[in-house]
Amino acid sequence: MRKGTRAKPSKRATLKNRKVLIAGGLGFIGSNLARRLVGIGARVTILDNLMPDSGANWFNIAGIRNGLRVNISDVQGIQSMCYLVKDQEYLFNLAGQTSHLDSMHDPYTDLEINCRAQLSILEACRHHNPKIKVVYASTRQVYGKPDSFPVNENHLLRPVDVNGINKMAGEWYHILYNNVYGVTACALRLTNTYGPRMRVKDARQTFLGFWIRRLVEGKPFQVWGGRQLRDFTFVDDAVEALILAATDDAAKGCVFNLGGCEVVSLKELAALLVEINGGGDYNVCPYPPEQKRIDIGDYYADYQKIQSALGWRPRVGLRAGLARTLRYYHKNLGRYL
Ligand SMILES: NC(=O)c1ccc[n+]([C@@H]2O[C@H](COP(=O)([O-])OP(=O)(O)OC[C@H]3O[C@@H](n4cnc5c(N)ncnc54)[C@H](O)[C@@H]3O)[C@@H](O)[C@H]2O)c1
Repeated sequence: MRKGTRAKPSKRATLKNRKVLIAGGLGFIGSNLARRLVGIGARVTILDNLMPDSGANWFNIAGIRNGLRVNISDVQGIQSMCYLVKDQEYLFNLAGQTSHLDSMHDPYTDLEINCRAQLSILEACRHHNPKIKVVYASTRQVYGKPDSFPVNENHLLRPVDVNGINKMAGEWYHILYNNVYGVTACALRLTNTYGPRMRVKDARQTFLGFWIRRLVEGKPFQVWGGRQLRDFTFVDDAVEALILAATDDAAKGCVFNLGGCEVVSLKELAALLVEINGGGDYNVCPYPPEQKRIDIGDYYADYQKIQSALGWRPRVGLRAGLARTLRYYHKNLGRYL
């Protein structure tokens, strides 16, 4: 099959004038999605609790603040979830604790948000709005250390950290509610996602964000290991996949990998970033032991399944995506520290 084509066309809806709830919408991916949906003319409500140390940031919705509603609440609150899902047509479920290391330091918080709260969200849908369509942001972390490459959706799930285990449960609750209760749901297993509005303060969520911060500040950054292979999805491509998954009937009950245009080692990524930035320094050093224990080694995804079913593929190459990201932080870094 040619790239970008799919097996057979299926019914695809439009989100113009549709009522859409984005859980985690003040964060990195959720706010980029909100910006796109406001542009399309969707009626967007963001639900977010501005979780400390997450990517939540009011600046992420600068310029679209008047085009949507924001409800500051917690997905763990069953009553507020019941109220918020009522009358909505789509739910993009991006509210999550995303730090792998934090999930090891504080496994209970990760459990409450990524596992237990997911049930509250789905129970609210089942009892108060079973016709809603839900897209869940899952993660490649559910695979753990891969046995074979590129990793496809049939690969064994063997997470190496608490976050991966809880996200796996969250993902399967969604598929279960789809299969058993008829709440239309699907899950996208995101790989490293990057772009404007990502958290750059420290390496808690993503090393790439912190590299970008250090470069923009004119300081050297550290590359741990460096030989690991990874794929990266530019956030606009991730947003496109989320929208396709919500609006295409072919996604119902499915789990799909997302992937990137290129596979690179972290050393190659560091060199590319410095080149695009027009300068900068980095040191290659061993993994800190705490990180090493939960490292997954190489990872890159096979995204054939979503390509065949929904016609999605990554379109923004690494060079272009990194250039756009660097430009954004050269201008706006102060808003993210
Ligand atoms: N960014 C990536 O590379 C990546 C990779 C794989 C999966 N994902 C998944 O995508 C989703 C979004 O990730 P992101 O990078 O935008 O993270 P982010 O931290 O920028 O956004 C998450 C948002 O969820 C909100 N949130 C957290 N707990 C909440 C709660 N209990 N109630 C309400 N809101 C809550 C936070 O305040 C934040 O605004 C997450 O579920 C994450 O697991 C992201």
